Amino acid sequence: MSTGADTETFVVRGSGPIKGTVHVPGAKNSVLKLMATTLLTDGTFELTNVPDIVDVTIMGELLAALGVNMQRPAPGQLLLTNTGQITPVAPYELVEKIRASINVLGPLLTRCGEVRLSMPGGDDFGARPIDMHISGLKAMGAEFKFTDEYLEARCERLHGADITFDFPSVGATENLLTAAVFAEGRTTIDNCAREPEITDLCNFLVAMGADVSGIGTSTLTIEGVDRDALRPVSYYTVPDRIQAATYLAATAVSNGELNVLGIRPDDMTMLLDRFGDMGLQMSPVEIDGASGLHVVAPERMRSIDVATLPYPGIATDYKPLIITMLSVADGVGIVTENLYPGRFRYVEELQRLGADISTTGHHAVIRGVPRLSGAEVQAHDIRAGAAMVVAGLAAEGETIISGVHHIDRGYDDLVGRLSAVGADIRRVG
Ligand code: EPU
Repeated sequence: MSTGADTETFVVRGSGPIKGTVHVPGAKNSVLKLMATTLLTDGTFELTNVPDIVDVTIMGELLAALGVNMQRPAPGQLLLTNTGQITPVAPYELVEKIRASINVLGPLLTRCGEVRLSMPGGDDFGARPIDMHISGLKAMGAEFKFTDEYLEARCERLHGADITFDFPSVGATENLLTAAVFAEGRTTIDNCAREPEITDLCNFLVAMGADVSGIGTSTLTIEGVDRDALRPVSYYTVPDRIQAATYLAATAVSNGELNVLGIRPDDMTMLLDRFGDMGLQMSPVEIDGASGLHVVAPERMRSIDVATLPYPGIATDYKPLIITMLSVADGVGIVTENLYPGRFRYVEELQRLGADISTTGHHAVIRGVPRLSGAEVQAHDIRAGAAMVVAGLAAEGETIISGVHHIDRGYDDLVGRLSAVGADIRRVG
């Protein structure tokens, strides 16, 4: 894994079809939550199918400060030892680096009865409040105090509550779910998020001995258990559907043909349907015991209209990839963002590469051009950065991408994996 220094760049040249086989690792947005959940009980957990990404390192450092030590004995494997000596104070310099640090709130509060946490950082695409996390925990008996820099929460044993979300927030669902594990009585979370990564967290908790039902639906029910009912487990992280989509997009724009293995197509049905509408041919494949999709790009993709929505809708994290694909598709596509109003910053970068895109409010109108042309662009966040790489594959000449430390936060050796299937891409600096 790269250290992702600020001076590094990726240099990409559109060099024709990618061909071969890529193995996709586990999901960042699951493993970080599984890691935070090890705060709940003492002992050594094993996580497998773990991506080699910077955010895992940062979460490991945060957990070490709280009392859980991380080791990486082998690629894809983490051992996390909860020492039983948990300090419920999360230091600013770690919390500000990743959004997922907010996921320590639920486990720390329910286990220790107190937490002091800086406000979480993460990607730069607009305000990301945590009001739903807080009001849900308050309904379960927690009290909060805020200063300019951090929040403090306290409780006796939390109690069950009936919580209905206005919006199915991923992070709020996860925090209330983990907090409810030791609460007295029953908690229901209605209109909760049901992303595959939430299902993964539920299954992890059940394997540990928690009582969670309604898994995969929009109502979760958690019956609180005693502290000693939980045990550490060994667990395989769900595959990363966003990394999977990135390799599909790279295949599509390069007119390639790829086996994308280690993925769960059922977790990305709606996206795959839309990719099918664009002309990608996808069929199930199994190679040496690993299953996935065999993907063949059309000569030129057709444009489509897409709106982002919570799961099972099209994830906002796919959107930069979709807009990049539409930039070189035949026709006009309209993409509507329904989760983060400010998440169009990378459009300017795509325009530098010759894409014809206009945005108004939360809509982007993309008029496909036959080919992009290489230029210097910047990765503003993880997903926008991956989209720049895909755009570079669709461009004539050289594309130089700066800000690659963002990409390293969520992508496990994107450069190595793409080079291995024939892409002309290298890390410089
Ligand atoms: N929201 C509130 N109040 C809250 C919580 C959320 O207003 O208390 C709003 C947010 O401001 C945002 C929307 O609800 O507009 C969605 O937020 P959500 O809580 O669902 O997202 P998250 O937990 O902060 C996770 C992923 C994001 C992904 C979103 C949506 C992690 C670490 N992050 O964020 O992933 O975009 O769900 O699917 O799991 C990424 O991986 O690059 C990434 C940004």
